[in-house]
Amino acid sequence: MRLSITAAVLWTSVASATILQNGQVRPNNYPSTAIPIISSYNSSWHSYPPSAPELSYKGRWDDKYISWWSAPGLKFGFQAEQVAISFGNYTSDGVLVAYRLDGQDWMLTNVTASSTQLLVTPSTAGYNLTTPINATQTLELRVTNWAYGVQIQCVHLSGGAAKLIKIPNYTRNMELIGDSLSAGQYATYEGISSYSWGLMYGLGNVEFSITAFPGDCLHEGRCYDPAGIPDWDFAAHPAADITVINLGTNDNNTSNNVTATQFYNSYINLINEIHTRWPQSQIIILSLWSGFAQVGNTWQQGSGFLNEIQNVVKYFNNGSLNERGECPSCFVYYFNTTGIIEHNDIGPLYHPTDVGHVKLASHLMQYVKLTFGWIFEQTGPEVQHETLYWNDQPDY
Ligand SMILES: *[C@@H]1O[C@H](CO)[C@@H](O)[C@H](O)[C@H]1NC(C)=O
Ligand SMILES: *[C@@H]1O[C@H](CO)[C@@H](O)[C@H](O)[C@H]1NC(C)=O
Ligand SMILES: *[C@@H]1O[C@H](CO)[C@@H](O)[C@H](O)[C@H]1NC(C)=O
Ligand SMILES: *[C@@H]1O[C@H](CO)[C@@H](O)[C@H](O)[C@H]1NC(C)=O
Ligand SMILES: *[C@@H]1O[C@H](CO)[C@@H](O)[C@H](O)[C@H]1NC(C)=O
Ligand SMILES: *[C@@H]1O[C@H](CO)[C@@H](O)[C@H](O)[C@H]1NC(C)=O
Ligand SMILES: *[C@@H]1O[C@H](CO)[C@@H](O)[C@H](O)[C@H]1NC(C)=O
Ligand SMILES: *[C@@H]1O[C@H](CO)[C@@H](O)[C@H](O)[C@H]1NC(C)=O
Ligand SMILES: *[C@@H]1O[C@H](CO)[C@@H](O)[C@H](O)[C@H]1NC(C)=O
Ligand SMILES: *[C@@H]1O[C@H](CO)[C@@H](O)[C@H](O)[C@H]1NC(C)=O
Ligand SMILES: *[C@@H]1O[C@H](CO)[C@@H](O)[C@H](O)[C@H]1NC(C)=O
Repeated sequence: MRLSITAAVLWTSVASATILQNGQVRPNNYPSTAIPIISSYNSSWHSYPPSAPELSYKGRWDDKYISWWSAPGLKFGFQAEQVAISFGNYTSDGVLVAYRLDGQDWMLTNVTASSTQLLVTPSTAGYNLTTPINATQTLELRVTNWAYGVQIQCVHLSGGAAKLIKIPNYTRNMELIGDSLSAGQYATYEGISSYSWGLMYGLGNVEFSITAFPGDCLHEGRCYDPAGIPDWDFAAHPAADITVINLGTNDNNTSNNVTATQFYNSYINLINEIHTRWPQSQIIILSLWSGFAQVGNTWQQGSGFLNEIQNVVKYFNNGSLNERGECPSCFVYYFNTTGIIEHNDIGPLYHPTDVGHVKLASHLMQYVKLTFGWIFEQTGPEVQHETLYWNDQPDY
């Protein structure tokens, strides 16, 4: 895992398989928002380039305004009757984006390369009908597929006095480094169903990147190593206050031939690299759950590189406890995942189910709150989408 490698997006085949969930076909006929290109419209549209200072990019984007990694986003304020976005030719075909007006629930639409999508009209849920043109509302968009990306080409607003409004950045910063488990592979809405998303979007008021890709290893060069990825300009972005690492599940696979010593040394090197770049970043490292096995008449959680990960933490903490048992100079924290998810929180493809992701996210949120005093600032608008199962039958 190299920090300078920022993403690997497989710009390949369109997801076309039928997905079954609990034996039912998962619906994926999201309403189309495509409209003809705006240049053919009348002069009531105002178009802004992707470099417009009012546009706030969340997570990883490159200098061509192409999104990378898991769950990157775009957010901006506007006063307008309608909002449309044109996507450039580097956009993956059929990429699923989630978008929302203010704190309304996420809506979903498939986007293709070189297309324009009409995302806000007066009939959009949450559109302020009182004084539409004067009310500042926000539009946020997130790429859900970890393997796909979008390219922002233009943002268009309609209405006489329409304008973009710059909104403040979030004040807290986090980074999560992982593999498929963190990228959200096989979760219902991939990136935005992952525990990584649940943790960092769920805390609220957090700028974050999910630097995670399926197959990723800690020990460099042994597993899937993405190539051709633009370097990330660390200097242009604020340091992460908290960095979460969940790596090693792929290193712990016999087919990758990573020894325990190589893993331990690579982990220490990665943490040193992060600490050099971001000296103030608090680093949380997760123990690996490594799946579940039937043992006797019950189930037991696995534990890849169990001692090595604890020894990495010990290496950094290095007997520096003060007389009160505190460690003021410590910046590496061990997060014990044992007992959070159970065997049925793992899907048939070895990854957490949506419920498993939510459980991990909730415990991590609480850990961050108790350890660093971060309060929960997302206190109403949904984070995970379509998790609203409930019973309204009293007599059964
Ligand atoms: C111009 O486009 C806007 C937005 O679609 C529409 O509301 C308006 O009626 C159009 N005006 C004319 C003159 O076509
Ligand atoms: C995308 O569009 C740009 C500008 O129109 C063009 O220079 C470039 O060749 C196109 N790239 C692809 C992959 O189509
Ligand atoms: C829309 O995205 C979903 C999720 O990635 C995918 O299953 C579906 O095939 C896509 N639909 C189209 C029309 O591209
Ligand atoms: C809305 O804005 C227009 C022009 O920007 C202004 O003339 C009008 O008074 C405003 N209306 C309200 C209700 O604020
Ligand atoms: C609609 O906009 C007006 C003017 O900005 C504001 O006073 C009002 O609270 C907004 N209503 C909603 C539901 O957001
Ligand atoms: C938000 O942060 C980005 C860098 O990550 C910076 O370029 C941009 O100017 C900031 N926006 C505001 C409103 O401070
Ligand atoms: C181990 O790696 C091989 C080769 O990439 C893969 O087929 C297998 O599913 C992996 N095993 C686990 C438990 O992830
Ligand atoms: C596994 O690693 C050892 C020691 O680094 C090396 O000697 C051996 O050739 C490797 N085996 C494979 C299959 O890569
Ligand atoms: C995975 O980790 C476990 C527990 O530390 C260890 O016993 C096992 O040898 C490791 N396997 C591989 C292939 O790294
Ligand atoms: C840990 O402590 C030993 C002995 O005091 C020292 O040699 C070593 O450099 C320390 N390691 C770190 C990472 O500070
Ligand atoms: C992790 O949690 C499990 C379950 O509570 C416990 O048995 C184990 O000792 C813990 N491991 C560490 C290193 O704290």
